Amino acid sequence: MEPISRRTAVTLGGLGLAGTAIGGAGLLWTAQPGFTPFGEPVARSAFRAKSGEPLRQPTEQRSRDGVLEVTLDASPGRMRIGGRNATTLGYNGGLPGPTLRVRAGDRLAVTLRNGLTDPTNLHTHGLHVSPEGNSDNPFVVVEPGDSFDYEFRLPADHPPGLYWYHPHHHGVAAGQVFGGLYGAIVVDDPLPIPVTRERVLVISDLTLDSAGNLTRSTVAERMHGREGELVLVNGQLKPSVDIRSGERERWRIVNACASRYLRLRLDGQELHLLGLDSGRFAKPEKVDEVMLAPGNRADLLVTASEGSTALRAVPYDRGSDGMMGGGRGSSLAEVTLATVTVEGADAGAGDTADSLPAIPRQATPVDLRGATVTARREFVFEMGMGGMMGGGGMGFTINGREFDGGRVDTTVQGGSVEEWTLTNASQMDHPVHLHVWPMQVVERVGRAVDSVLWQDVVNVPARSAVRVRVAFTGFTGKTVYHCHILDHEDNGMMGVIDARAAN
Ligand code: C2O
Ligand code: CU
Ligand code: CU
Repeated sequence: MEPISRRTAVTLGGLGLAGTAIGGAGLLWTAQPGFTPFGEPVARSAFRAKSGEPLRQPTEQRSRDGVLEVTLDASPGRMRIGGRNATTLGYNGGLPGPTLRVRAGDRLAVTLRNGLTDPTNLHTHGLHVSPEGNSDNPFVVVEPGDSFDYEFRLPADHPPGLYWYHPHHHGVAAGQVFGGLYGAIVVDDPLPIPVTRERVLVISDLTLDSAGNLTRSTVAERMHGREGELVLVNGQLKPSVDIRSGERERWRIVNACASRYLRLRLDGQELHLLGLDSGRFAKPEKVDEVMLAPGNRADLLVTASEGSTALRAVPYDRGSDGMMGGGRGSSLAEVTLATVTVEGADAGAGDTADSLPAIPRQATPVDLRGATVTARREFVFEMGMGGMMGGGGMGFTINGREFDGGRVDTTVQGGSVEEWTLTNASQMDHPVHLHVWPMQVVERVGRAVDSVLWQDVVNVPARSAVRVRVAFTGFTGKTVYHCHILDHEDNGMMGVIDARAAN
């Protein structure tokens, strides 16, 4: 992709995103070469009603001999979305960026080039890697025109699963993710799970104006958390998925939306959840729906039986910010994300139920419920008037304070286990995220969780509390915890944690 010249770039409002007015030949992002269709084509049915183009897979970069070296170019560019020309952001000219496939013990080296008009950086969401130096350090700042060499070393016992990467520069994270900067990271299973095929589904949303440019966010959207009018799967609007009856697919789904909650359903098909975020369940769980807050991932088995259906995000009320003239999100409307057609006679009676493939036992999930807790803390998430430097907006705070990168809010002892109570004192949900160390959810809204549930984004519903346990093992250093409604994070709902080496 050719970069858009500074001369033609216009700054889009407070976002500082580069929009464009490109004439003539233009600089169309060629989405196609960046994407490869998955597997062999599947025959189309004659009565197949209007559905979109087949779901593509993002380009994939795979580690070899323990190393994956990639360059990620973050820049604006033109591409096609839902049949229209659009100007968005993207990594390497695509939306989503390439899927990075690595294994436990690998070294992932990423050269990040900033072709944006604002500072940026890179976060490897969910990876259990060092938060220091040129590893997963959220305090790194890469100025426009500069580049930075990241290096992430995955421990030999890193959990397999689905992770993702996105920018994390405080103040512009929501706009950059919303604009198109995200991609999946897969840490492969040591032993593959036998399925017919595997797909990565990166779900994101954005809003384009009639000229195909990203719209500016309003104050109300930045308070509530912006939700896009177009909800995309791998950058595609309502793509189609064809499966044959009796086949079993593994869908690795990322909620890369800046603020939108995804309560996913695929009615008529049998679904088994292998895990959420990096947390693999002890055994697959049969589900009817999967709830993904922003930042969450699902590892889902789909066992196909004949019929047409749709992957839908059904309404979820994430509350109100109480602001006049706004406040309620479009998570309240139902969205069709993809159409799914399953053809062919069933391979055999009773083939779907209770016949899961032999899932190799990777590792029994650790359970901290019996662990010795060395500290208990409470974090109160609040939204109040009079914040944002008295600018009349709303203040987004944790324990009464807005984010200050120069301050350490929480100091923990490396190697210790802590119990945190995440209290939501506001009228809206906040999906709470901690870098580097996943959280085991032990109590939700007053009820003990009776299974081993690990997540790195834990939704805390409005006016409620969730209790988690965290083992601060493996790494020391400073990093952050925050609300993963990225507008809330940009508005101050983030704190600094320092894990100190035991002495
Ligand atoms: Cu996915 Cu701190 O972020
Ligand atoms: Cu993260
Ligand atoms: Cu929030």
